[in-house]
Amino acid sequence: MPLAEFVASLPPSSELLSPVRPYVNHSVELKLPYTTDERTKRLEEAGLNVFQYPAEMVTGCDMLSDSGTTTMTNRQWAALHLGDESYGSNRGYFELLRQIQTTFGEQFANDPAENRPNAFLFHQGRPTEDALFTVLSGLGSDLTIPSNGHFDTTEANIEANHIKPVNLFSKSLHDIKSNDTFKGNMDIERLSSLLESSHDRIPVVYVTVTNNTGGGQPVSLENIRNVASLAHKHEIPFFLDACRFAENAWFIKQHEAGYANKSVAEIVREMFSYADGFTISFKKDGLVNMGGGLFLRDGGLFVQRYPQLPDALTNLQILKEGHPTYGGMSGRDIMALAEGLKTVTTEPYLAHRIGQVQRLGNGMAEIGLPVITPIGGHAVYLDMNRFFEGTGADRLFGGVSFTALLLAAYGHRAVELGNFAFGKYDPQTGKETLPEVNFVRFAIPRLRYEETDLRNVAESAYALYKMRNGIPDVAVTYGRELTLRHFKARFAFK
Ligand code: F0G
Repeated sequence: MPLAEFVASLPPSSELLSPVRPYVNHSVELKLPYTTDERTKRLEEAGLNVFQYPAEMVTGCDMLSDSGTTTMTNRQWAALHLGDESYGSNRGYFELLRQIQTTFGEQFANDPAENRPNAFLFHQGRPTEDALFTVLSGLGSDLTIPSNGHFDTTEANIEANHIKPVNLFSKSLHDIKSNDTFKGNMDIERLSSLLESSHDRIPVVYVTVTNNTGGGQPVSLENIRNVASLAHKHEIPFFLDACRFAENAWFIKQHEAGYANKSVAEIVREMFSYADGFTISFKKDGLVNMGGGLFLRDGGLFVQRYPQLPDALTNLQILKEGHPTYGGMSGRDIMALAEGLKTVTTEPYLAHRIGQVQRLGNGMAEIGLPVITPIGGHAVYLDMNRFFEGTGADRLFGGVSFTALLLAAYGHRAVELGNFAFGKYDPQTGKETLPEVNFVRFAIPRLRYEETDLRNVAESAYALYKMRNGIPDVAVTYGRELTLRHFKARFAFK
């Protein structure tokens, strides 16, 4: 029998239960053997605030963020050596502009010699957001920026510039029975009525892909197209917060009618074809540890309506970050980014990456944990309201208790993104305003963990679930009233 015939008679590798990674370890970091007692003591010293707990002592998986935590490929490490640290017009800048055009579209990166600046580099996402909202805030008072779900720093930067952020989450997001694949979508009806009543006060309409605040859920191309067309009907520029653009495109390919036979690269180009601009933290789908940028469509609605703003942005960049050709980045990081953007849209990479997140989430769901389904692209979210449902006691900040126990007892670091992180406390009235969502997030760093690591995470979370009746709430011992309080506060078990 010829070899090929026999091979064809066997089940293919992709159908086996344990997936093989489309990469191998290039170098590894040895963990230090901290004990449960040492972790517990150190977390108590940190006031149970997982942000303030030393990463070196995370003996399990560090799932605090998928941002800046990627393991770079050996091609990226090689690219670092080609970095050009010149003050003006370093080699990597031109390479990056070419890659931005290839990935997102020709119009997003003009040749600097043409003097129509439309590509602005920053050191990460939030200074990019600050620059954009600073220049937008000069357009008028009482402005509003709607989104399908602003990220916390985005929202904070909007507010810091005296603009009102509005989140128009899709209705299906909170419907646990809904199996809608695109729960990250913007609620079109609410957008439509907001635009009818307030279009003259809306400088841009934003869509975040994937919707990090809304459970890491993807947004469909149909929704992107509809939001863009509604915004354009009112002559309002349409923007993407593009941090996880490739992961979002992967979901479109898997689940949206008409896209199965398109490549991820083509889907990305279509997603961005509707945008007048986008902000991005390259610490996610740039596959780098640092970097951000703002890109405007050449001739798009943003530059048409606000022709003075590109120059204002360049000024801000020079004042606060550096020469526009490096922004806040070093030349070597720019090279690694240009290389990372080539990898991130490759389909074996994305299939494994998203598959890993799905396997963790589905594994948790199967053992009964209240995960947000369908599972998103970069993280698994546990719904803390459902986690403690039926236990009788009120746990306002139960998510904080959960993350503290997970870290101390099992060495895994997850983060509360719910009543504490997104709630607001008014010290005058003593009232808490609670957010729409009360999640704990397990964000999965790219190219970092193996399947057994993640299985241990699911088992650890389940061990806590079984004990949930006895898990106490926390008292906030410091910082309840502060802005961005989750980074700074301290807690103690009640
Ligand atoms: N937009 C989204 C959707 C984000 O998820 C983040 C960061 C930012 C903007 C800001 O970018 O961190 O480079 O300043 N998200 C990280 C997270 C921090 O853990 O989800 P940045």
